Amino acid sequence: MFDRTTKIAPSILAADFSAFGAEIEAVEAQGADWIHVDVMDGHFVPNISFGATTCAAIRPHIKTVMDVHLMIAPVDCYIDAFAEAGADILTAHVEAGPHIHRTLQAIRAAGMRPGVALNPGTPAAAVAPLLDLVDLVCVMTVNPGFGGQKFIDMTAKISQLRNMIEDRPIHIEVDGGVDSRTAPLVAAAGADVLVAGSAVFRGGSITDPAPYGENIRAIRAACI
Ligand code: DX5
Ligand code: ZN
Repeated sequence: MFDRTTKIAPSILAADFSAFGAEIEAVEAQGADWIHVDVMDGHFVPNISFGATTCAAIRPHIKTVMDVHLMIAPVDCYIDAFAEAGADILTAHVEAGPHIHRTLQAIRAAGMRPGVALNPGTPAAAVAPLLDLVDLVCVMTVNPGFGGQKFIDMTAKISQLRNMIEDRPIHIEVDGGVDSRTAPLVAAAGADVLVAGSAVFRGGSITDPAPYGENIRAIRAACI
């Protein structure tokens, strides 16, 4: 069921890479709504994280929504691998290639919910022709590639997208530098999915997961 209530999606880029399964179970038990999975190729972005094999390995540990953010180019030749890995949402960047329309159709045809992401330098208008193809628009509030970067204010772009989307069942996700200070700004502008890596995982661990819950509740409370 589609809804626009605020959802917190911890990015496992800020988790312990040697224990993704336990980290995911801990952060879900502490109130995460979705799990955000950042795939980086060292080509589209200047960093490498992990790929579809890792996604398949962590899938059984996710009870909520597996939200996979591809920071890779090209995309199309990997879509089936992420479908087999069990991604619920598969988001590709509008900047990742010349045929984003085809990419989004292929993601839907492979049985996943398509998302489209925009870098900070890309205007909202770039996704106007794509709104009937997607279930999610991801507004990057950092230049993608690394966790823990400073928030770039994209509230005007989020408001524009919120108006463009009208009553379509499309989530607006915000990714990068989201914490309890920046979350209320993007939520007020119309975002409903808040990705947060460092702001969720800071201070906690698998053996001491309570800070994950405190961090999630602090972000949520700041948006009310
Ligand atoms: C950036 C990634 C983000 C990132 C968010 O390239 O797409 O998901 O991990 O991390 P924080 O919340 O630490 O900015
Ligand atoms: Zn991301």
